[in-house]
Amino acid sequence: MAETATLSYGGKSYELPIITGTENESAIDISKLRSDSGLITFDEGYKNTGSTISNITFLDGEKGILHYRGYTIEDLASKASFVEVIYLLLYGELPTQTQLSEFEGSISKHTLVHENLVKVFEVFPTGSHPMGQLMTMMSALSSFYPDSLNPNKKPEETNLTVIRLLAKMTTMCAMIHKKGKGHPVLYPQNKYDYVTNFLYMTFGNVSEEYIADPVIVDAMNKLLILHADHEQNCSASTVRIVGSSHANLYASIAAGIAALWGPRHGGANQEVLEMLEDIRTNAGGDVKRAVAEAKDKKRLLFGFGHRVYKNFDPRAKIIKVACDNILAKLGVNDPLLAIAKELEEVALNDPYFVERKLYPNVDFYSGIIYKALGFPTPMFTVLFALGRLPGWIAQWKELRERNENIGRPRQIYTGYTQRAFTNIADRK
Ligand code: SDX
Repeated sequence: MAETATLSYGGKSYELPIITGTENESAIDISKLRSDSGLITFDEGYKNTGSTISNITFLDGEKGILHYRGYTIEDLASKASFVEVIYLLLYGELPTQTQLSEFEGSISKHTLVHENLVKVFEVFPTGSHPMGQLMTMMSALSSFYPDSLNPNKKPEETNLTVIRLLAKMTTMCAMIHKKGKGHPVLYPQNKYDYVTNFLYMTFGNVSEEYIADPVIVDAMNKLLILHADHEQNCSASTVRIVGSSHANLYASIAAGIAALWGPRHGGANQEVLEMLEDIRTNAGGDVKRAVAEAKDKKRLLFGFGHRVYKNFDPRAKIIKVACDNILAKLGVNDPLLAIAKELEEVALNDPYFVERKLYPNVDFYSGIIYKALGFPTPMFTVLFALGRLPGWIAQWKELRERNENIGRPRQIYTGYTQRAFTNIADRK
């Protein structure tokens, strides 16, 4: 007989089914709880709430394990290209060489964006944040594809929308960088692979031939893979909840970008670099002061702590090693790396961080690499979004394939109970 959990309430007992996943994670199924008992569950911030059943990504926060479709993040980051990982996340299997070539070929046919989309850039004031621009561009993209606005009407168009999005995302991200610098935008060159094309459009120059540096191409592939999915994080949950209203993919992804921008989520990568810079310039490199301020709740140590990882974030381990290697290969000697390492060392030996199980997360060392590759700090979260796009799409696709219910949590109301309306003349 299937296992159940028993809940006693109001003199009655209720048998609640247990659901178990392939990695033996178990959950109490409360889908009939309210209709049977009148109770709802309360879990602010969804710390203990499973919102879906998913086949995409598995993570074990206690053991520091992360798998995409069953493959370890260590294997994928060292052996696969970003495009292989995109394919894996979207379609469930690693591609054969033929499938990969076809997939890359179909993406490269859609890398151009409509010229009117480029004009949208004219409305942004100088210095406007790249994430705000990306959100706007993503929403604006929907205007050019009216046939994809209702995913129920032409479901056969979904895969084309997915390909378009993947293709145009690199072009839009690179344009944001170019516009920020006041440089002319570069149009995609489809002789390049996905990642190289992005680097060409970002760092290439109209007046010179672009020669891709394999160290930079490898570093970018690795970073994008490490950011590609992370199960039901804040932005993926946002994409799913927006998609659950049957909103189109562009609108759902724009919402995911908005969620990612927050400094508690993807926006932390920009904050980390600014924090390290602040420690270097304003605190004379005194990391102990920053740690003391964090303990006094005067600041957060950005890039530290995670809702799920309570031992270590496997991505942060990989990025730390990559950071040393990439900076050495590029001949970059960034004093912020030494500050970051010292900060990590001090925090990891401090009871405040030990008791709260706060470790460096994916955002702690990534910015130092992005900086070494030549990206300005405000672009960092855009790079996270570029990496996370396939994860968001895979989550949206899965939600649609499972025909999930509209996301609509309940609440415990603590406001006024019913009271009499007072006419304006009688109000005090
Ligand atoms: C990402 O969820 C995902 O999977 C996200 C992500 C992904 O790939 O999608 O992994 C990407 O978003 C990484 C996280 C990036 N954010 C930051 O680096 C910002 C700094 N970190 C935090 O704000 C925080 O740790 C969170 C938001 C990441 C997690 O928050 P939780 O799980 O709600 O934990 P909490 O805020 O309730 O903290 C528990 C305690 C509190 O202290 P007490 O009230 O118990 O005294 O730890 C303290 C917090 O004040 N704390 C920190 C801290 N993080 C938590 N104190 C100082 N510095 C920090 N960074």
